[in-house]
Amino acid sequence: MRICILGATGLVGGELLTLIDRAWPNAELDLYASRDQTLEHAGRTHQVHAASKLEQADARGGDLAFVALDDQYSARYCPRLVELGYRVIDKSNTYRMNPEVPLIVAGVNHRHATPTTKLVANPNCTTIPLSLALEPLRTAYGLAEVTVSSYQAISGAGLAPLTSFVDATIEGFTQMQRTGDRTGALLDPNAYPANVVPHNGSTDASGFSSEERKLVNESRKILELPTLAISAQCCRVPVPVGHYENVWVELERPADAAGIAELLNAAPSVRYVPGAEGTNLTALATVQHRDYALVGRLRKDGRDADGRRWCLTVAGDNLRLGAATNAVRIASVWFAADDATLRA
Ligand SMILES: NC(=O)c1ccc[n+]([C@@H]2O[C@H](COP(=O)([O-])OP(=O)(O)OC[C@H]3O[C@@H](n4cnc5c(N)ncnc54)[C@H](OP(=O)(O)O)[C@@H]3O)[C@@H](O)[C@H]2O)c1
Repeated sequence: MRICILGATGLVGGELLTLIDRAWPNAELDLYASRDQTLEHAGRTHQVHAASKLEQADARGGDLAFVALDDQYSARYCPRLVELGYRVIDKSNTYRMNPEVPLIVAGVNHRHATPTTKLVANPNCTTIPLSLALEPLRTAYGLAEVTVSSYQAISGAGLAPLTSFVDATIEGFTQMQRTGDRTGALLDPNAYPANVVPHNGSTDASGFSSEERKLVNESRKILELPTLAISAQCCRVPVPVGHYENVWVELERPADAAGIAELLNAAPSVRYVPGAEGTNLTALATVQHRDYALVGRLRKDGRDADGRRWCLTVAGDNLRLGAATNAVRIASVWFAADDATLRA
């Protein structure tokens, strides 16, 4: 089996390398990034090639390609990879809302990865854990309305922003310590360290950012509820890895807490965390359960009149469950994974 990773030197690419070792340990790997370079990973040195080499007439084909690049590079390389005979799983936003391309969360709608599917879009890192939590509720009770508030890690922006966040945090807290500042007034009010910042990229005329629109539109497509009443507000919080979402759900039919908990306990790729207080349901806890959505803080909404309105929290490691793990589980539909936890 021949697998290629585009974006192998990035955050998601690094996680893919780890997971491929678990899923297909004997696969032959071809790694690509912006330029020729070497990559140290898990004690091995890999040769990485410039992705532009894939455009050469003598570029080799293969079985499976994971694309972990920004949108414009995905648009450039995915069609070429399909042409070279790869089955492609793209992590960017490029194809997610394309009606011709399935948008898949393993455990929810992986039936759309069929023997003839050549290109699959991997959803946004907040949409994947949310869909895993909502799908069992949709099936059992129907979904009338969903409201989400997200608290998202800096690594969602990629390796360079994560590195500068860590450096700026050390510098900022050192400055607070040195000057005796206890409020953060000396820190940059628009930067990530010690802050909560609106996820405001590509805000359109609606006033919602692209992150907020992705969570809404992708959830509708995956859950196959094109008119679902869903709204989201997204923030970045000063956390390295682990996206956290508070969710308000209105069901179509009444439920009780024990019934919902039972469903979540049995849901694929979900670890249900009992207890309304949310002990062990934190952003950093997701890094201890990297391939699962943590779902808990289940309780009746204080405004509920008839068992249809519920509050819960969903958290997931954005680099793994929210990106690489879901991609590998989708690919396991075509190529059986050795590690059972990485099968769809
Ligand atoms: N981070 C997350 O939580 C997350 C979650 C879900 C989806 N995603 C999506 O996954 C994709 C990758 O994200 P990431 O966080 O892994 O990004 P990243 O850490 O910034 O890595 C970006 C990768 O793109 C490569 N690259 C840059 N310019 C290129 C070019 N001109 N040609 C070929 N390769 C080029 C980089 O190679 P060099 O090292 O050579 O520059 C690097 O390997 C993005 O579409 C992102 O939206 C990310």
